[in-house]
Amino acid sequence: MTVVVFGSINRDLVMRVPRLPLAGETVAARGLDLLPGGKGANQATASALHGVPTMLIGAVGDDEHGAAMRAAMAAAGVDASLVQNVAGPTGVANVFVSDEGENQIVIVAGANAHVAAPEAFPACAGRAVAVAQAEVPAAQVARFFAAARAAGALTLFNPAPASAEGADLIALADVVVLNETELAFFVGSAVPDGDAAVEAAARQLVSRRGQWVVVTLGGAGVLACGPDETLRLSAPRVPVVDTTGAGDTFCGVLAARLSEGAGIGEALRVACVAASLSVQRMGAAASMPVRAEVEAALVVS
Ligand code: RIB
Repeated sequence: MTVVVFGSINRDLVMRVPRLPLAGETVAARGLDLLPGGKGANQATASALHGVPTMLIGAVGDDEHGAAMRAAMAAAGVDASLVQNVAGPTGVANVFVSDEGENQIVIVAGANAHVAAPEAFPACAGRAVAVAQAEVPAAQVARFFAAARAAGALTLFNPAPASAEGADLIALADVVVLNETELAFFVGSAVPDGDAAVEAAARQLVSRRGQWVVVTLGGAGVLACGPDETLRLSAPRVPVVDTTGAGDTFCGVLAARLSEGAGIGEALRVACVAASLSVQRMGAAASMPVRAEVEAALVVS
């Protein structure tokens, strides 16, 4: 079992604000924290903290943020031997987090724009799950998934942030994980309201037999459309401090459990519980639970 993540590496500049700023408005933050981030690095962290051997393929620049992100990956137990060094700045994200736990994020791609997918999928012991998101060039994600499929790996795509280029990659994934806003973008409709509308929209994205489209619904849980069935799981009710990285926790833990051979229903249940733990703390990767915490929460959920 191995999870191989191809994706972005950012340093998150996190500002805690009483409320998210409106256009043209200046809001005073309570402070600034520099935290590990980037959807690729975050999902790799969630998987590694879940105890599954995890490799990250991405790129950092030749600056202090790159060194900090390499240190963060090492601390999380992520194999970063295939992380590339490029000249120039590491990716950064400006993250505002409100007292309600909502966020607003603006990213600067930096080194992420220059990452190259490897020619061949890395050698993995046992079942492998290949994971990617949309903060790195779409052509490189396509190359990564092609190599992963040729090597027999399961592919999991989180098309975030939603973009036209990402739409072409959805068919390459065995499991697609996206939220309601991203779902609306890809099917070209308003954000679906209610389970029936979410299911109808999600089914439009299922492009081949065996593919699962998983829609994360925040505090309302998850709805997953598979070949012959629809699964609907609720999320534990918890106090929300910061939702940044909750989707990444979900994807990383889902990939980790699928690499261990768990069925999709069980893997989704564990991923939901892991995400509900992450929203109770500040930060993206900084908020992610270790496996023992998830196991303990599963007992009471
Ligand atoms: O999903 C959360 C992440 O999105 C943040 O860590 C930020 O870096 C952006 O990539």
